[in-house]
Amino acid sequence: MLSAIRSHLLPVIKLYLLGLKVLLAQLFSRCFRLPVMPRQDGKVAIVTGGSRGIGYEVVRHMARLGAHVIIGGRNEQEGLAAVRKICEEYKEAKVEFMKLDLASLQSVRQFVQCFREQDLPLNILVNNAGVMLLPEGRTEDGFEQHFAVNYLGHFLLTWLLLDTLKNSGKCGHFSRVVNVSSSAHRVSEIRLNDLNSSQCYSAHAAYCHSKLAQLLFSSHLHQELQRGGFPLSSCAVDPGIVDTALYRHLWTPLCMALSVIARLLFWTPAQGAATILYSALSPDLEGENGGGYWANGRREMTTPPAFDPQLQLSLWETSLQLLGLQ
Ligand SMILES: NC(=O)c1ccc[n+]([C@@H]2O[C@H](COP(=O)([O-])OP(=O)(O)OC[C@H]3O[C@@H](n4cnc5c(N)ncnc54)[C@H](OP(=O)(O)O)[C@@H]3O)[C@@H](O)[C@H]2O)c1
Repeated sequence: MLSAIRSHLLPVIKLYLLGLKVLLAQLFSRCFRLPVMPRQDGKVAIVTGGSRGIGYEVVRHMARLGAHVIIGGRNEQEGLAAVRKICEEYKEAKVEFMKLDLASLQSVRQFVQCFREQDLPLNILVNNAGVMLLPEGRTEDGFEQHFAVNYLGHFLLTWLLLDTLKNSGKCGHFSRVVNVSSSAHRVSEIRLNDLNSSQCYSAHAAYCHSKLAQLLFSSHLHQELQRGGFPLSSCAVDPGIVDTALYRHLWTPLCMALSVIARLLFWTPAQGAATILYSALSPDLEGENGGGYWANGRREMTTPPAFDPQLQLSLWETSLQLLGLQ
């Protein structure tokens, strides 16, 4: 009984209390407004999950600034509709859709293969796609779904694109990896011996776990890149509480109530995109100033596990093993 409460009820309570705290903070603080960003002509960006929600606004803004943006997504119809909409709005926009299902390691490899065939540079990678509160299930590769889509698929994607990212950056114009995490990481801990949540499944805990894993990955990658002296940085961003379809798997009555509250109190997808765009494009984060964890336009400190170098390394090595890399 006690262990059931600890594993099922506690993550729910922790996440909703955190959500309430973040929402109150959002209500009583001013939402970050993105300053005018430099033109991005000649730059190439990949945005995962860029067909809707926060990712769509990131793609739209980058395209407006002249970047060539590739939306990586699993739903072709939705992706092509997003491309059409942006191209109707900005006649000069260079946006395309490429199939990418982060729940499938094979699909990630195919996506990278197709991208490489285009022989393009890659200046910005935004690991944005995400799922939340899915019922227990495994991907075709046998991984828990939140862990696979939010974290491991993005780990593999970044790993396979690393050389292109490194080669596309130069002094004063670093390439950038932006990992869209969440404040939900604050109520989680990394279970290295149970990354797949097999011992006891809680959808709430699985989401928070995947978002903490993303943060650890982002920090470790950044340090490795700095140590190697590569013109590439990696940072993590919390977009805030934003009115998107991410919440659609919530318990139905709560979801219905939330859809009303969300319209009134949550940030819009464009507001949620602001800090992501800032981290991806701002000259303020150039070179040595890159990296870190960003929320509402500011670099933030977060919970100790996120900055534990030993934990970062252990997760990194375990992930490589799980992916059969190295
Ligand atoms: N909304 C918030 O309040 C909030 C708060 C903190 C963090 N975040 C983070 O922000 C990011 C964007 O979320 P959002 O709020 O914009 O949610 P959203 O509207 O649901 O967008 C999520 C995107 O990810 C894509 N996606 C899901 N599974 C995928 C897969 N297996 N392969 C490829 N693409 C996949 C979705 O496309 P499909 O059509 O294929 O599902 C969709 O385009 C997520 O990482 C989320 O965790 C959001």
